[in-house]
Amino acid sequence: MELGNADPLRAGRRRVLITGAGGQLGHALQQVFAHDDVLALTRADWDVTQPPPSDTVSRGDFDLVLHTAAWTDVDGAEADPQGAAAVNIAGTAHAASLKVPLVTYSTDYVFDGRKRSPYVESDGPNPATAYGRTKLHGEAVAGPQAWVVRTSWLFGSTGRNFLRTMLRLGEEREEVAVVDDQRGCPTYVGHLAEATRTLVDGDLPHGLWHLAADGDCTWADFAEAIFEETGLPTRVRRISSAELERPALRPAYSVLRSGRANAPRLPHWRAGLRACLADLGR
Ligand SMILES: NC(=O)c1ccc[n+]([C@@H]2O[C@H](COP(=O)([O-])OP(=O)(O)OC[C@H]3O[C@@H](n4cnc5c(N)ncnc54)[C@H](OP(=O)(O)O)[C@@H]3O)[C@@H](O)[C@H]2O)c1
Repeated sequence: MELGNADPLRAGRRRVLITGAGGQLGHALQQVFAHDDVLALTRADWDVTQPPPSDTVSRGDFDLVLHTAAWTDVDGAEADPQGAAAVNIAGTAHAASLKVPLVTYSTDYVFDGRKRSPYVESDGPNPATAYGRTKLHGEAVAGPQAWVVRTSWLFGSTGRNFLRTMLRLGEEREEVAVVDDQRGCPTYVGHLAEATRTLVDGDLPHGLWHLAADGDCTWADFAEAIFEETGLPTRVRRISSAELERPALRPAYSVLRSGRANAPRLPHWRAGLRACLADLGR
């Protein structure tokens, strides 16, 4: 995990630190920023509830921090809000303490979901879950040099996500029950990583940005699209969120759009689905 600044091959390249590098977005960012001089740290390398480790990070001289480390267990945060806060609030403050330009990621779950037209940056947040509250507070501690990217319903070819769960269940079952009363934008991490690079390379202003896939659907629609694209014969039984009885109440509607000039535009979620399946060799 040497920074390698003395390495002539790395001279002159942008030095980028990625936190939470073991996660799905962390993986995608490592690919998209591969031409930069990247130091990718997993939780084992830097537990962000602690200040930056003095041996690797504090002495590092970075041009950019891509902060993806987060408590993402939405239901688990209801049982342990302090634990979620330590990662999502203190962790973001620790990333900001490096005092270099920072991209930090937040969520559509900062909204209560009562709107029926897309949420833009100027809409007031009102999180209904512990996870959403910690992410909103995390936005506030990101500092003046931060791009705060709100995104939604992430999926990729690695890690735990809805797409990979559906592929597994689709192989095992003839029918899966999926909620049909939450509407959002399933966003492919590869497309979000590209949009992040556009934001940074384009030197767009710091502050809040809504970056999610074009189009919108319910989880049940998304599941059907997954089975359609992969040719799995699995049927989708549409159910309500109440039938699922999960601890955290998800917003019924959390479609994100940017109201800002020159906002990077992501491809449609269905294009993201196809790109991810291609990644998985499906
Ligand atoms: N997933 C979504 O649908 C979604 C939607 C909207 C916004 N976001 C936001 O997008 C960002 C990236 O999410 P993701 O989907 O890539 O999440 P992910 O796959 O769960 O990755 C998060 C990473 O953070 C690591 N982590 C957890 N606690 C940590 C700690 N204390 N110190 C250092 N690392 C820690 C995790 O490590 P372990 O694997 O060891 O736990 C994991 O590798 C997060 O800010 C998330 O809140 C996600």
